[in-house]
Amino acid sequence: MKRILITGASSGIGLEAARRLVSSGHQLTLLCRSSERGQQTRAQLLAAGATSSQVTCLVADLADLGSVQSACDQLQERDEPLDALVLNAGQQRAGATAPVWSPQGIEITFAVNQLAHQLIATGLLPLLRAGSQPRVVITASDVHNPATGGGRVGQPADLGDLAGLRAGAGFVMLDGKARFDGDKAYKDSKLCNVLLGRELDHQLAGAMPVLTWSPGLVIQRSREGFFRHNRQSNPLGMALFALVARDLLRVTESVATAGGLLADLITDPAFGSSGFNYWSNRLVRPGMHRFSAAQTSAEAADLAKAGELWRLSQALIETTHQTATPSFKDQST
Ligand SMILES: NC(=O)c1ccc[n+]([C@@H]2O[C@H](COP(=O)([O-])OP(=O)(O)OC[C@H]3O[C@@H](n4cnc5c(N)ncnc54)[C@H](OP(=O)(O)O)[C@@H]3O)[C@@H](O)[C@H]2O)c1
Repeated sequence: MKRILITGASSGIGLEAARRLVSSGHQLTLLCRSSERGQQTRAQLLAAGATSSQVTCLVADLADLGSVQSACDQLQERDEPLDALVLNAGQQRAGATAPVWSPQGIEITFAVNQLAHQLIATGLLPLLRAGSQPRVVITASDVHNPATGGGRVGQPADLGDLAGLRAGAGFVMLDGKARFDGDKAYKDSKLCNVLLGRELDHQLAGAMPVLTWSPGLVIQRSREGFFRHNRQSNPLGMALFALVARDLLRVTESVATAGGLLADLITDPAFGSSGFNYWSNRLVRPGMHRFSAAQTSAEAADLAKAGELWRLSQALIETTHQTATPSFKDQST
């Protein structure tokens, strides 16, 4: 039995992984954006056969550093070791023409996908070090890599010299560009996720597995799921994209298989070698994916950039989260 903390288990890949993990007898702590979302997820897992003591939900709106810190404080107070830290939550707003701001005035894709996860990792590494055969798993994406199919559509991921992040809260793009591109902001955040894995591995000095991975393109049939914001901004375009990609070309992965891969990464001894690794679930031909170890992009292998991203992010966390700007609050999700 493993004690597992996971973000983003209320929907999609994370929910499917959570179902499998509870049915294998593992103990889950879920960080969910609200108590309502936590209760819904808990009910779904109980319906899937989990026992009441197997699932604990804590509120952490990952858009809000204050909410994330408060969840970390509660976990530190409990002082229960963790055997796996799973940083899986994410959102994208590819169709958005202007940034949405977090309560701290940070572009929300970066705030949720990366910054919150760095704060969680910082706060919970001591609990993880105390765990049994611990590991870190981070859900990134092949779109971080401009050499992959998804990564080369539209503007490629590129953090430049991190001029935006260097300037502090209120930056529009991490590379300092003033024009918002929601699709690139997402790709950049996934590049940051891989760099977060590199930096954590560096700080842990190879003491445990740090697994970053890409699930492939997963388009759920429900109104929820990863493309929910795109559906709102472009319902017809998104319906057509889903029909073509999922049903005609069959280039998507099922949420069940992607969730199963995440559960394996968290618990399977086959993924237990220490150190950084990147795994990718790549399309081989229509209807068929292959999950294997893969190279990251050159930028995602830049250890100096990983360290600089960590330091600048840490400074942003320290300067903003004591001084939330109320005017940004009503735009957060
Ligand atoms: N789907 C794909 O094609 C694809 C491809 C490559 C990588 N990924 C990555 O896979 C991961 C999981 O995505 P998915 O496909 O399972 O999408 P999903 O169904 O939309 O799940 C995303 C999860 O993140 C949580 N989340 C988002 N914003 C949050 C916030 N402010 N506070 C707390 N939790 C928040 C969501 O919570 P709520 O349910 O409360 O919103 C949900 O549990 C993401 O990191 C994504 O970038 C997905």
